[in-house]
Amino acid sequence: MKENLKKVHVKTYGCQMNVYDSEKMVDLLKPHGFESVDTPNEADVVIFNTCHIREKAEQKLYSDLGRVRPLKQEKDLLIGVAGCVAQAEGDEIIRQAPYVDMVFGPQTYHRLPELITKLYRQKEELKESTNLNKSQKRKLRSVVDTDFPVESKFDLLPQTQESRTSAFLSIQEGCDNFCTFCVVPYTRGSEYSRPVTEIVKEAKHLAEMGAKEITLLGQNVNAYHGESPTEPSKEWNLGQLIFEVGKINGIERIRYTTSHPLDMPTELYEAHRDVPALMPFLHLPVQSGSNSILKMMNRQHTAKDYLEVIEKLRKYRPDIAFSSDFIVGFPGESDQDHQDTLSLIKAVEYSQAYSFKYSQRPGTPAAIMEQQIPEEIKVVRLAELQALISEQQLKFNQTFKDKTLKVLVDKTGKKDGQLSGRSEYMQSVYFDGPEEIQGTMCDIKIEHTFTNSLKGLISQTQQTIL
Ligand code: 5AD
Ligand code: SF4
Repeated sequence: MKENLKKVHVKTYGCQMNVYDSEKMVDLLKPHGFESVDTPNEADVVIFNTCHIREKAEQKLYSDLGRVRPLKQEKDLLIGVAGCVAQAEGDEIIRQAPYVDMVFGPQTYHRLPELITKLYRQKEELKESTNLNKSQKRKLRSVVDTDFPVESKFDLLPQTQESRTSAFLSIQEGCDNFCTFCVVPYTRGSEYSRPVTEIVKEAKHLAEMGAKEITLLGQNVNAYHGESPTEPSKEWNLGQLIFEVGKINGIERIRYTTSHPLDMPTELYEAHRDVPALMPFLHLPVQSGSNSILKMMNRQHTAKDYLEVIEKLRKYRPDIAFSSDFIVGFPGESDQDHQDTLSLIKAVEYSQAYSFKYSQRPGTPAAIMEQQIPEEIKVVRLAELQALISEQQLKFNQTFKDKTLKVLVDKTGKKDGQLSGRSEYMQSVYFDGPEEIQGTMCDIKIEHTFTNSLKGLISQTQQTIL
């Protein structure tokens, strides 16, 4: 690898899985003399780690690419496109943006150092060759690597050397559910679960590096079924894995995301009851509250099935709070279907939720369904749904006024002297305090409640200890 190639900027779009992958890309490049920088202007290599889930995310990639393009005229810059758009579009990206040097998917980024070395070698060859035509030159200039290789990338990823209070840990990847709106099964491939031993080793390493919170990640994380640490012919489910991660010294908080309501093994309910570190908050997407839409979405459950899962979780962990994803304007969605979604939201009472207008994704069954919903209707339904969620979120937050919450402090706040962190329920909590308490768990008495955050005071006892 080139001696002077030292700075990499990775921009992440989309989900936490991409955040994990971006961190790993930096970890992979570090032994090759790279450091991570915050802007493309400072970088020798810029990587866009992309998301393909909705059209908007994809459009953002092309506008960001256009923005870094002029930098190529100023310096010897390599531009890479990684992640799910790379996987789905491959060569098409090079056709639309020929100045992109490398395109690689979520399953091949462990080969990034080799890829960069190869590109530099090709650049040298290109300089020396004078009699090539345009397309031969382009072929030499860009590399596309979007295989689903037989080797597991996880075996080849280095352990991170970064210290993070709250760390992500990928335990499962891909999805076999094939919801009709979703590109994930095509971009991330079929389900793969990492062996328990490997996950526990990574979790212990993260704890040693200072992590107090670990979020176990997977596209369909509760479908996890990894090799047992004691009997290799057997598999453990997510509940069993959480019991094991819960024993690791230093790990005070465990979360997992993203879940599907169908994959709820008994041990997972038991973990919510018996593992003190497992947080009383669950992101459990339902997408719609209408049975006919759920059927068209191929979710394989009804609204009632979902409500039963919620009720059962509340039995095991009475203070648990829920979040969800919703899609409005799925093909064929009637006013009544939309009302059914609102009714389900009222029945559950969420503490927060994400909601999206349905976006037609090429290659997915729903994209070619009849009765696509006009944009104007989607806009109205989204606003209505979001107003209801905001109302519930504020109501949930208000229940904490004058109460004390445990906050894992992980950032400085917007104003001078302000710190911020997350409560057990994933609320953002702001308060004034000394910078040294970043990375610690603090008791914060809540004084003001808002829709998206809480503001409080650090408790008296904690102040004296400090
Ligand atoms: N259109 C809109 N939202 C979508 N999601 C997935 N695919 C689409 C799509 N085609 C949403 C779902 C999923 C979340 C990650 O993104 O709600 O749970
Ligand atoms: Fe996509 Fe989630 Fe459905 Fe899998 S379960 S297809 S990742 S929405």
